Amino acid sequence: MVQNLIERMSLEEKIGQMTQVTMSLVSTDVVGPAEDHGIDRAKLERAILTYHVGSILNEGGDGYSLAHWHEVLSEIQDVAIKESRLKIPLLYGIDAIHGATYTNGATLFPQAISLASSWNLDLAEREGEITALEVRATGIPWNFYPVLDVGRQPLWPRFWETFGEDPYLVTEFGAKYIQGLQGNDYGAPDKMASCLKHYVGYSAPSSGFDRTPAYMSERTLREIYLPPFEAAIKAGSPTVMVNSSEIDGIPGHANYHLLTEVLKGELQFKGFVISDCKDVKRLYTRDRVAASPKEAVALAINAGVDMSMVPNDFSFCDLLLQCVKEGLVPMARIDDAVRRILQVKARMGLFEPNHAYPDPLMKPMLAKKEHTGANLAAAQESIILLKNDKNILPLARTSRVFVTGPTSAMLSVLNGGWTITWQGTAEALYPKDKLTVLEAIKAKIGDAQVTSLPGATFNAPVDVAAAVTAAKNADVTIVCLGEKAYCETRGNITDLTLDAAQLYLAAELIKTGKPVIVVLLEGRPRVIQPIVAGTSAIVLGFLPGMEGGRAIADVLFGDVNPSAKLPCSYPKTPNGLMTYDHKPLEENEENSYDPQFPFGFGLSYTTYSYSDLRVAHEVIGEGENQEVSVTVKNTGGLAGKEVVQLYLQDEYGSVSRPVRQLKGFRKIRLEPGESQEVSFVLTPNDMSFIGLKNTRIVEPGTFKVMIGQLERGFLLK
Ligand code: BGC
Repeated sequence: MVQNLIERMSLEEKIGQMTQVTMSLVSTDVVGPAEDHGIDRAKLERAILTYHVGSILNEGGDGYSLAHWHEVLSEIQDVAIKESRLKIPLLYGIDAIHGATYTNGATLFPQAISLASSWNLDLAEREGEITALEVRATGIPWNFYPVLDVGRQPLWPRFWETFGEDPYLVTEFGAKYIQGLQGNDYGAPDKMASCLKHYVGYSAPSSGFDRTPAYMSERTLREIYLPPFEAAIKAGSPTVMVNSSEIDGIPGHANYHLLTEVLKGELQFKGFVISDCKDVKRLYTRDRVAASPKEAVALAINAGVDMSMVPNDFSFCDLLLQCVKEGLVPMARIDDAVRRILQVKARMGLFEPNHAYPDPLMKPMLAKKEHTGANLAAAQESIILLKNDKNILPLARTSRVFVTGPTSAMLSVLNGGWTITWQGTAEALYPKDKLTVLEAIKAKIGDAQVTSLPGATFNAPVDVAAAVTAAKNADVTIVCLGEKAYCETRGNITDLTLDAAQLYLAAELIKTGKPVIVVLLEGRPRVIQPIVAGTSAIVLGFLPGMEGGRAIADVLFGDVNPSAKLPCSYPKTPNGLMTYDHKPLEENEENSYDPQFPFGFGLSYTTYSYSDLRVAHEVIGEGENQEVSVTVKNTGGLAGKEVVQLYLQDEYGSVSRPVRQLKGFRKIRLEPGESQEVSFVLTPNDMSFIGLKNTRIVEPGTFKVMIGQLERGFLLK
């Protein structure tokens, strides 16, 4: 069918399929809430009938009701399916990065960095399933997610969109999320298609600012940044979005090697590649690797971009037409791009009768009660206990608690960007039935037990003297610190240290001598060293989502035994940005891996012991697996969940090898006194690395397996 269509399409129609524009380009111009923006029929017809546009996205705006989504999407499909010459359905895409972002009342989960803190892959799969159900309830079949960038630069304002610093952790979370979102068939009515982003190397800007250059070798790229994409392509993701920045001077959108040779060649990616927002133009306006807008279009399409997220005008259509007519872009490239796009549309089922329209029967899927339950469970497993001096936590319900700090009484700080709006800062639009940390504490122990004062904004003290007095009058102070919501470049910072006003507030509270518990809500690990020693406990939420307030109160008062672990290293100093999988030469007399809290760390209200670490074979041959087992026991008095983490060190290699690398993990639940044997299989891939010739190899030699404090060696012959 796709081939038949391609044969009947004009060049203009083909180029239209390669074009994505923003919703506001086809909406009425009214100032006011998004809900008031209906479709402007004349604008829509211009987009679909004149320019043959094949895809639309939401770029900005705020939340719609389901009814409004159904209305606008139906109108769009009416024009595409009933009025256009070839009746090709339109493909709508959205950033549902932690649930159905632009839909009022949707279930909004912990953001990726928090979800990864749970180290529970079932939660990722469940989030994928629920996101698919709720986004399909709106009628949208395509999600610009998951983010598979590896978060090794904590200054980067998109750090929280990642599953952390470790390629294996990111790979596992990404693949499980895709499984939940897509199932075996992303065209099924309750499933949707994923989009892997941002291919590739976007997350490593050397300055830490968003959309600034990364400098990395092909080896580093293949060792660290590529594997999550490789696995997700194998898991069946049909679309990929391009790195909005550049690597070694080559903008993502101009990188023929990475887009065509590696992605479509080596990795055999059969789906289509979409540009990031405005990035084809930027090859001329920003990067200056093209000397005109037309050259920019030719460069991107020839590099391997199949669809351009233009998105605010139709310039791409006109320019690509000129490019083809002038021989700057071969017709074969256009046909290849269109075939890829139409094949994905076909596999989504969009050509089947009524399938491209929102399904009224899906409406009840939005914000089902059980979805809220799943969201709470995810948040509860995402809260990391970093410090608990003298077991001050959990607090007794009879405690008189003083709650203060800039993140204590807002919902946006629990959610971050892409929550209701792009920046996530529209506090007034947040649902009234969700609880801030302060409200959740009051709900748990009663208003009479709780006093509260602001203490500080994000960057200025607010009557700290009053806060100090209140702290003195309470049994314990809970000071909620962190960051306001932000997204992309607007979250750029020049210092990883938490704002001085917040550290000052905490320091003054500590001086009272009363116990101070710090709750951190932030998109990246902001340095808090000056206050760590003085605090009694530290609870890190990152961005735990709409149920995050409740989950934090559950941890503080012991209704939940914390089980989350850091998916990244938590730096002690602004420049101490070493990752856990650093090289041996990074550990010497002058420097060492010395973070505030290490990767994989997180406390519990119970204790665990590890014993009997075994490797099945002292010697294995090339291509063989190794089996590893360990016994874990709950030695404390409370049931709990423990994350069993397996690290491997390849002791000697022709390319210097990391001191350890995560190669397996399992989250298990143990009753007090209970023990369990946990086993892992290490495959040749786990023992491999990118060698001198930039290809993946396994070298014979000795390996060390590490779990807890235990170690065992084996030889690969
Ligand atoms: C972001 C992408 C996003 C796109 C569409 C861009 O600015 O980099 O992650 O999918 O906008 O909203």
